[in-house]
Amino acid sequence: MSIDPVPPLIRIRGLSKGYRRGGQVIPVLLDLDMDVAAGEFVALMGPSGSGKSTLLNLIAGIDKPSAGTIEIGGVDIAELGEGELADWRAANVGFVFQFYNLLPVLSAQDNVALPLLLTSLSSRERAERARVVLGLVGLSDRADHLPNELSGGQQQRVAIARALVSDPLLIVADEPTGDLDRVTGEEILGLLERLVVEMGKTIVMVTHDPKAAAHARRLVHLEKGVLVDEAGA
Ligand SMILES: Nc1ncnc2c1ncn2[C@@H]1O[C@H](COP(=O)(O)OP(=O)(O)OP(=O)(O)O)[C@@H](O)[C@H]1O
Ligand SMILES: [Mg+2]
Repeated sequence: MSIDPVPPLIRIRGLSKGYRRGGQVIPVLLDLDMDVAAGEFVALMGPSGSGKSTLLNLIAGIDKPSAGTIEIGGVDIAELGEGELADWRAANVGFVFQFYNLLPVLSAQDNVALPLLLTSLSSRERAERARVVLGLVGLSDRADHLPNELSGGQQQRVAIARALVSDPLLIVADEPTGDLDRVTGEEILGLLERLVVEMGKTIVMVTHDPKAAAHARRLVHLEKGVLVDEAGA
């Protein structure tokens, strides 16, 4: 009998997603299979409207599939109820968005600490953790700044710190460099690579930019609702 290989962190089978509009269903993802190993950095590419954000949101438990299974760390998140899914997400997924999504009235440190409000940590512990993670992204000296007192690249670092603060196994990023200049984008990608190499995180990143995708170790193309795997970068 052969020994089972290490199961993938993400195991997607028969995943379909359609959006209902009026009397019609718009099919977006069609019976899609995908595996992502723990510690992989995967770039997801494809034309606009091909369903990249839809797939990312399903993996992150923000949205529910029409059919299929999404096993992450052995849990089929498609089977979870809304409350269970929210708890699962808070514990296991960090999000990074194109436009940072920071709360404008909160300091960098308080933005980073925000996901910890869902935990039982004291406010002192939350602040301490936020400071540690801001240090990891090189922003210790900007902890008290409001988002509009930070550059775009710094705001994205704050968002990455916020994604890391609950120590999730999985980070999902939807065009994290889409609003940044080339040099700043490269810095952000370098930071994401460090999360994989030094901290063992698993990242699934949507990008339009082949140069950004080259930072990932695997490229996956979404075309007409199915995935086309490319050679590792
Ligand atoms: N809530 C929704 N209701 C109806 N249709 C939707 C909804 N969200 C997305 N769609 C449709 O699903 C398809 C895929 O959208 P999605 O946002 O996943 O594309 P994408 O690959 O991320 O595109 P882009 O590169 O432009 O961000 C599109 O045709 C879109 O119009
Ligand atoms: Mg998108």
